[in-house]
Amino acid sequence: MGKDVIIACDFDSAAKTFAFLDQFTGKKPFVKIGMELYYAEGPSIVREIKARGHKIFLDLKLHDIPNTVKKAMAVLSRLDVDMTNLHAAGTGRMMEAAIEGLTRPDGTRPMLIAVTQLTSTDQESMENDLLIKEPIADVVMHYASVAKSAGLDGVVCSPLEAGKVHERCGEGFVTVTPGVRFADGDVGDQKRVMTPAEAKRIGSDYIVVGRPITAAADPVAAYERCVAEFVD
Ligand code: C5P
Repeated sequence: MGKDVIIACDFDSAAKTFAFLDQFTGKKPFVKIGMELYYAEGPSIVREIKARGHKIFLDLKLHDIPNTVKKAMAVLSRLDVDMTNLHAAGTGRMMEAAIEGLTRPDGTRPMLIAVTQLTSTDQESMENDLLIKEPIADVVMHYASVAKSAGLDGVVCSPLEAGKVHERCGEGFVTVTPGVRFADGDVGDQKRVMTPAEAKRIGSDYIVVGRPITAAADPVAAYERCVAEFVD
Protein backbone atom coordinates (compact mmCIF):
# COMPACT_ATOMS: atom_id res chain seq x y z
CA MET A 1 0.00 0.00 0.00
CA GLY A 2 1.27 3.46 -0.81
CA LYS A 3 0.51 6.90 0.56
CA ASP A 4 -3.18 7.53 0.97
CA VAL A 5 -5.79 9.76 2.58
CA ILE A 6 -8.09 7.89 4.99
CA ILE A 7 -11.44 9.56 5.75
CA ALA A 8 -12.57 9.16 9.38
CA CYS A 9 -16.26 8.26 9.05
CA ASP A 10 -17.20 9.40 12.54
CA PHE A 11 -20.95 9.01 12.09
CA ASP A 12 -23.42 7.34 14.45
CA SER A 13 -25.49 5.50 11.86
CA ALA A 14 -25.22 3.60 8.60
CA ALA A 15 -27.72 6.00 7.01
CA LYS A 16 -25.51 9.05 7.68
CA THR A 17 -22.42 7.15 6.54
CA PHE A 18 -23.96 6.09 3.25
CA ALA A 19 -25.40 9.56 2.62
CA PHE A 20 -21.84 10.83 3.00
CA LEU A 21 -20.20 8.14 0.86
CA ASP A 22 -22.85 8.45 -1.87
CA GLN A 23 -21.39 11.85 -2.74
CA PHE A 24 -18.22 10.16 -3.98
CA THR A 25 -19.43 9.05 -7.38
CA GLY A 26 -16.80 6.98 -9.13
CA LYS A 27 -14.26 7.40 -6.31
CA LYS A 28 -13.70 4.92 -3.51
CA PRO A 29 -11.79 6.63 -0.72
CA PHE A 30 -10.04 4.61 2.01
CA VAL A 31 -12.30 4.98 5.08
CA LYS A 32 -11.80 4.63 8.82
CA ILE A 33 -14.59 3.02 10.85
CA GLY A 34 -14.20 3.81 14.54
CA MET A 35 -15.89 2.65 17.72
CA GLU A 36 -18.92 4.91 17.38
CA LEU A 37 -20.03 3.60 14.00
CA TYR A 38 -18.98 0.01 14.66
CA TYR A 39 -20.80 -0.19 17.98
CA ALA A 40 -23.87 1.47 16.47
CA GLU A 41 -24.15 -0.81 13.45
CA GLY A 42 -22.01 -3.90 14.10
CA PRO A 43 -20.01 -5.93 11.59
CA SER A 44 -22.59 -5.41 8.84
CA ILE A 45 -21.38 -1.83 8.37
CA VAL A 46 -17.91 -3.18 7.57
CA ARG A 47 -19.28 -5.70 5.07
CA GLU A 48 -21.48 -3.11 3.39
CA ILE A 49 -18.73 -0.50 2.99
CA LYS A 50 -16.33 -3.20 1.79
CA ALA A 51 -18.94 -4.38 -0.75
CA ARG A 52 -19.06 -0.81 -2.09
CA GLY A 53 -15.38 -1.16 -2.92
CA HIS A 54 -13.70 0.91 -0.20
CA LYS A 55 -10.57 -0.03 1.70
CA ILE A 56 -11.26 -0.04 5.44
CA PHE A 57 -9.22 0.88 8.50
CA LEU A 58 -11.14 -0.61 11.44
CA ASP A 59 -10.10 1.53 14.40
CA LEU A 60 -11.18 -0.46 17.47
CA LYS A 61 -7.92 -0.20 19.49
CA LEU A 62 -7.95 -3.65 21.07
CA HIS A 63 -6.32 -4.12 24.50
CA ASP A 64 -6.90 -7.33 26.48
CA ILE A 65 -5.12 -10.56 27.41
CA PRO A 66 -3.24 -12.10 24.46
CA ASN A 67 -5.62 -15.02 23.94
CA THR A 68 -8.69 -12.77 23.81
CA VAL A 69 -7.04 -10.35 21.41
CA LYS A 70 -5.89 -13.23 19.20
CA LYS A 71 -9.44 -14.58 18.91
CA ALA A 72 -10.97 -11.15 18.35
CA MET A 73 -8.42 -10.38 15.64
CA ALA A 74 -9.29 -13.65 13.87
CA VAL A 75 -12.90 -12.44 13.68
CA LEU A 76 -11.88 -8.99 12.37
CA SER A 77 -9.61 -10.61 9.80
CA ARG A 78 -12.55 -12.58 8.41
CA LEU A 79 -14.34 -9.25 7.91
CA ASP A 80 -11.65 -8.57 5.30
CA VAL A 81 -10.61 -5.15 6.60
CA ASP A 82 -7.40 -3.68 5.17
CA MET A 83 -6.01 -2.21 8.39
CA THR A 84 -6.81 -2.49 12.09
CA ASN A 85 -5.16 -1.55 15.39
CA LEU A 86 -4.49 -2.19 19.07
CA HIS A 87 -2.86 -0.52 22.06
CA ALA A 88 0.88 -1.17 22.32
CA ALA A 89 0.37 -0.92 26.11
CA GLY A 90 -1.03 -4.46 25.90
CA THR A 91 2.64 -5.61 25.60
CA GLY A 92 4.71 -7.34 22.93
CA ARG A 93 3.17 -10.69 23.74
CA MET A 94 -0.33 -9.34 23.13
CA MET A 95 0.81 -7.83 19.84
CA GLU A 96 2.35 -11.14 18.70
CA ALA A 97 -0.87 -12.93 19.59
CA ALA A 98 -2.79 -10.33 17.57
CA ILE A 99 -0.67 -11.04 14.49
CA GLU A 100 -1.30 -14.77 14.89
CA GLY A 101 -5.04 -14.19 15.12
CA LEU A 102 -5.10 -11.85 12.13
CA THR A 103 -3.13 -14.13 9.82
CA ARG A 104 -5.45 -16.01 7.49
CA PRO A 105 -4.92 -19.65 6.44
CA ASP A 106 -3.38 -18.42 3.15
CA GLY A 107 -0.81 -16.33 5.05
CA THR A 108 -2.33 -12.92 4.21
CA ARG A 109 -3.56 -10.49 6.88
CA PRO A 110 -4.75 -6.90 7.28
CA MET A 111 -2.11 -4.34 8.22
CA LEU A 112 -1.77 -4.04 11.99
CA ILE A 113 -0.95 -0.67 13.55
CA ALA A 114 -0.28 0.16 17.21
CA VAL A 115 -1.51 3.12 19.20
CA THR A 116 1.41 4.25 21.38
CA GLN A 117 0.26 6.85 23.90
CA LEU A 118 -3.04 8.48 22.99
CA THR A 119 -2.58 12.13 22.04
CA SER A 120 -5.05 12.94 24.83
CA THR A 121 -2.51 11.60 27.35
CA ASP A 122 0.05 14.18 28.43
CA GLN A 123 3.19 13.93 30.55
CA GLU A 124 1.32 14.84 33.72
CA SER A 125 -1.48 12.26 33.35
CA MET A 126 1.02 9.60 32.28
CA GLU A 127 3.10 10.21 35.42
CA ASN A 128 0.20 10.59 37.83
CA ASP A 129 -2.29 8.04 36.51
CA LEU A 130 -0.07 5.46 34.79
CA LEU A 131 3.01 5.93 37.01
CA ILE A 132 5.25 6.14 33.92
CA LYS A 133 7.95 8.65 34.72
CA GLU A 134 9.93 8.72 31.43
CA PRO A 135 9.52 11.61 28.95
CA ILE A 136 6.44 10.93 26.82
CA ALA A 137 8.43 11.21 23.56
CA ASP A 138 10.70 8.38 24.76
CA VAL A 139 7.69 6.29 25.76
CA VAL A 140 6.12 6.74 22.32
CA MET A 141 9.37 5.72 20.57
CA HIS A 142 9.86 2.74 22.89
CA TYR A 143 6.31 1.49 22.26
CA ALA A 144 6.92 1.89 18.51
CA SER A 145 10.08 -0.26 18.81
CA VAL A 146 8.24 -2.95 20.78
CA ALA A 147 5.47 -2.93 18.15
CA LYS A 148 8.04 -3.35 15.39
CA SER A 149 9.76 -6.22 17.24
CA ALA A 150 6.38 -7.93 17.63
CA GLY A 151 5.96 -7.82 13.84
CA LEU A 152 3.47 -4.97 13.51
CA ASP A 153 3.40 -2.83 10.38
CA GLY A 154 3.43 0.60 12.00
CA VAL A 155 1.93 3.03 14.49
CA VAL A 156 -0.70 5.71 14.76
CA CYS A 157 1.13 8.88 15.73
CA SER A 158 1.04 12.63 15.53
CA PRO A 159 2.42 13.89 12.20
CA LEU A 160 5.06 15.62 14.32
CA GLU A 161 6.36 12.22 15.45
CA ALA A 162 6.31 10.50 12.05
CA GLY A 163 9.88 11.46 11.11
CA LYS A 164 11.32 10.21 14.41
CA VAL A 165 9.38 6.94 14.16
CA HIS A 166 10.87 6.35 10.71
CA GLU A 167 14.37 7.16 12.01
CA ARG A 168 14.01 4.69 14.85
CA CYS A 169 12.01 1.90 13.16
CA GLY A 170 12.87 2.30 9.48
CA GLU A 171 11.19 3.90 6.47
CA GLY A 172 9.12 0.76 5.86
CA PHE A 173 7.45 1.05 9.29
CA VAL A 174 4.18 2.77 8.52
CA THR A 175 3.02 6.00 10.18
CA VAL A 176 -0.70 6.76 10.23
CA THR A 177 -1.30 10.32 11.33
CA PRO A 178 -4.48 12.12 12.40
CA GLY A 179 -4.53 15.79 13.41
CA VAL A 180 -4.54 17.07 9.83
CA ARG A 181 -6.02 20.45 8.97
CA PHE A 182 -5.98 22.72 5.92
CA ALA A 183 -3.90 25.86 6.32
CA ASP A 184 -7.07 27.98 6.07
CA GLY A 185 -9.33 25.61 8.07
CA ASP A 186 -10.69 25.26 11.62
CA VAL A 187 -8.40 23.46 14.07
CA GLY A 188 -11.34 22.39 16.31
CA ASP A 189 -10.26 20.27 19.31
CA GLN A 190 -7.01 19.03 17.74
CA LYS A 191 -4.01 20.56 19.49
CA ARG A 192 -1.04 19.74 17.32
CA VAL A 193 -2.01 19.92 13.66
CA MET A 194 -0.37 19.81 10.28
CA THR A 195 -1.53 20.45 6.73
CA PRO A 196 -1.64 17.50 4.30
CA ALA A 197 1.35 19.00 2.44
CA GLU A 198 3.38 19.24 5.66
CA ALA A 199 2.43 15.67 6.61
CA LYS A 200 3.71 14.57 3.20
CA ARG A 201 6.97 16.45 3.66
CA ILE A 202 7.56 14.96 7.08
CA GLY A 203 7.02 11.43 5.77
CA SER A 204 3.58 10.32 6.99
CA ASP A 205 2.42 7.27 5.05
CA TYR A 206 -1.31 7.71 5.66
CA ILE A 207 -3.21 10.74 6.93
CA VAL A 208 -6.52 10.28 8.75
CA VAL A 209 -8.80 13.21 8.05
CA GLY A 210 -12.25 13.58 9.60
CA ARG A 211 -14.06 16.88 9.96
CA PRO A 212 -12.07 18.86 7.38
CA ILE A 213 -13.75 16.49 4.88
CA THR A 214 -16.93 15.25 6.60
CA ALA A 215 -18.03 18.73 7.73
CA ALA A 216 -16.96 20.55 4.56
CA ALA A 217 -19.57 22.26 2.40
CA ASP A 218 -18.20 20.16 -0.48
CA PRO A 219 -16.70 16.96 0.98
CA VAL A 220 -15.58 15.60 -2.39
CA ALA A 221 -13.65 18.78 -3.16
CA ALA A 222 -12.11 18.73 0.33
CA TYR A 223 -11.06 15.08 -0.15
CA GLU A 224 -9.57 15.88 -3.55
CA ARG A 225 -7.68 18.80 -2.05
CA CYS A 226 -6.22 16.43 0.57
CA VAL A 227 -5.18 13.94 -2.11
CA ALA A 228 -3.66 16.70 -4.24
CA GLU A 229 -1.61 18.01 -1.31
CA PHE A 230 -0.65 14.68 0.23
CA VAL A 231 -0.48 12.04 -2.52
CA ASP A 232 -0.04 13.61 -5.96
O1 C5P B 1 -12.16 15.16 12.63
P1 C5P B 1 -10.70 14.89 12.79
O2 C5P B 1 -9.88 15.12 11.54
O3 C5P B 1 -10.10 15.54 14.01
O4 C5P B 1 -10.66 13.31 13.03
C1 C5P B 1 -9.50 12.62 13.36
C2 C5P B 1 -9.79 11.16 13.56
O5 C5P B 1 -8.59 10.53 14.03
C3 C5P B 1 -10.87 10.87 14.60
O6 C5P B 1 -11.52 9.67 14.21
C4 C5P B 1 -10.07 10.65 15.86
O7 C5P B 1 -10.71 9.79 16.76
C5 C5P B 1 -8.82 9.99 15.32
N1 C5P B 1 -7.65 10.11 16.16
C6 C5P B 1 -7.12 11.34 16.54
N2 C5P B 1 -6.01 11.40 17.32
C7 C5P B 1 -5.41 10.29 17.72
C8 C5P B 1 -5.90 9.04 17.35
C9 C5P B 1 -7.05 8.99 16.55
O8 C5P B 1 -7.65 12.37 16.17
N3 C5P B 1 -4.31 10.36 18.44
